[in-house]
Amino acid sequence: MTHKTDTRLSHAGNKPEANFGIVNPPVYHASTILFPTVAAMEEGSKNKLDSVYYGRFGTPTTHAFEEAVAELEGGYRCVSYPSGLAAVTGVLLAFLKAGDHILMVDSVYFPTRKFCDGFLKRFGVKTTYYDPMVGAGIAELIRPETKIVFVESPGSLTFEVQDIPAITEAAHDKGCIVVMDNTWSAGYFFKPFEHGVDVSVQAATKFLVGHSDAMLGTAVCTKETFEPVKWTALDLGYCAGPDDCYLGLRGMRTLGTRLRRHQKSGMRLAEWLAGRPEVARVMHPAMPGAATHDLWKRDFTGACGLFGVVLKEGPSKKALAAMLDGFEIFGMGFSWGGYESLMIPTDPGHIRTASSWPDKGPCLRIHTGLEDVDDLIDDLKGGFERLNSSD
Ligand SMILES: Cc1ncc(COP(=O)(O)O)c(C=O)c1O
Repeated sequence: MTHKTDTRLSHAGNKPEANFGIVNPPVYHASTILFPTVAAMEEGSKNKLDSVYYGRFGTPTTHAFEEAVAELEGGYRCVSYPSGLAAVTGVLLAFLKAGDHILMVDSVYFPTRKFCDGFLKRFGVKTTYYDPMVGAGIAELIRPETKIVFVESPGSLTFEVQDIPAITEAAHDKGCIVVMDNTWSAGYFFKPFEHGVDVSVQAATKFLVGHSDAMLGTAVCTKETFEPVKWTALDLGYCAGPDDCYLGLRGMRTLGTRLRRHQKSGMRLAEWLAGRPEVARVMHPAMPGAATHDLWKRDFTGACGLFGVVLKEGPSKKALAAMLDGFEIFGMGFSWGGYESLMIPTDPGHIRTASSWPDKGPCLRIHTGLEDVDDLIDDLKGGFERLNSSD
């Protein structure tokens, strides 16, 4: 019997029969693993990726978390990392060498961009940024030395959904692999391997952990991409801590329930905001009329509560600060995906190099938490009163 995602999330990675019937896997703290004989040590050495060999290679806690994430995203195996950014950089380094070229989406998470423009450039890898709306047109940008097409959908801050099937088809035709930052969908609302992605990265810090209390990254791989990704993580000395993997796995048990609530409240806020006179447009792919709504509808099964708002031109910096500083519920902080609502000012126009940004008004990024949505709307109303009454 094939079980649905929520059923699988309730059990993935758990092995009570191996742990005295205890439901959750224990947290193994380990560096040294003892071998009873030289023969066992030699055997362990041959089988490093599939056994408990040395702390850095992972413990049963790490393996339980990785097994669950691979199952969630529908990939072959998962590699865990000490942060989402470590997962992004570790995966890029697995496939690149001096002289290579990477195609990077212009709406990518800023630290990924910084890694390309600084670190990769220093090691002789060139990056070209491309318009998130490129679709099959990516084929024209692929050079003989292009190794990776990197996608992040929807894009950070601006939330354009990319045409992933068209991009993966064009990339594979020209011998490139496609790496995706799939954090927004949490691997729950978008199934990367059904759309041709070769490695799906998540900042598990966000929705998988879900409680704003641990840093964690994941890379789910195909059979072909797993070994290079895993060995590169080992070469770089990346390993996720057992307590954090435990928190990641615990967060996954309630992922579906939390995401549905984030989605419902997020849609309410987005619709309410779209009706405000101060708002120029709402950047939420699940809103009919949004630029890439059709792609979202075709490829995604839902939406988290993270979206953007463009305000009409006019408010001063002081007025915007009065709005943001005075919220009772919305906090100002970067790491989204937790239970608490957040709002920060953003400036997408200053980051892009391959696509233009038409809007002149200030932008906001909202993470809709699990609070009562009517309270959130009251908090937003107060924010607009402060915006309008400040000179
Ligand atoms: C889309 C995206 N990818 C990656 C990261 C990096 O994750 P971490 O903060 O766990 O390093 C973030 C963090 O905000 C993110 O928003």
